Amino acid sequence: VKTIIVLGSSRSDGNTRALVDNLAESYSADILDLNQFHIQAYCYSGKYNDDFKNVMQTLLNYERIFLATPMYWYSASGTMKIFLDRWCDLLTTEKSYGRMLRGKHTGLLATGHDLEPPACFEQMFSLTFEYLGMKYDGMKYISHHTSLMHIQPKATINTLSH
Ligand SMILES: Cc1cc2nc3c(=O)[nH]c(=O)nc-3n(C[C@H](O)[C@H](O)[C@H](O)COP(=O)(O)O)c2cc1C
Repeated sequence: VKTIIVLGSSRSDGNTRALVDNLAESYSADILDLNQFHIQAYCYSGKYNDDFKNVMQTLLNYERIFLATPMYWYSASGTMKIFLDRWCDLLTTEKSYGRMLRGKHTGLLATGHDLEPPACFEQMFSLTFEYLGMKYDGMKYISHHTSLMHIQPKATINTLSH
C-alpha cells in the first residue's frame, strides 16, 4: 500500500522523527514534515495564502496516510493540531478533497513521556478519521522516560496493522 507519514512535531529531528524513520522503512513510506510547509491556523473567512492545498494534493496520491505527533499536554502537537483544524476546509471550500479522503487507510504514530497516553489522546484522531470516513488502522505509541539521561523506548503500544 502506498503510504505517507505526516510528521507534525516542534522539532524535525526529535523523538517522533526517530519513530517515523524507524517505521518508514518497514512500510516503504514517504515522509512529509509539516515544518517544511507554511500552514496557517484555521480562519472563518477561508482566505489563506499558504501551502495547505499543496500538502493535501500530495497526500491524496497515497492510499494510506499516517499522522505522526508527539504528545504535548495529552494532545496533538500544536503543529499537528493546526494542520488538523484545516481539514475543516475539506468539508466546505475543498469538498472534492474531502471526498477523496474517504476510504483511505490511516493511522497514528506517537511518542510521549508517559508509559501510556490517556484515551482522549487517541480519540481526537480516531473520531476525526471516522468523521471523514477514513479507515483507522490504529496507533503505535512509544514512551520515552526523560528521567533517563538518554532516550530509551520503555514501552510500545502497538496496535497498528501492516
Ligand atoms: C510542550 C510539551 C508538552 C508535553 N506534554 C506531554 C504530556 O502531556 N505527556 C507526556 O507523556 N509527555 C509530554 N511531553 C513529552 C513529549 O511528548 C516527548 O518528549 C516526545 O517524545 C517529544 O517528541 P519530539 O521530540 O518529536 O518533540 C511534552 C513535551 C513538550 C515539549
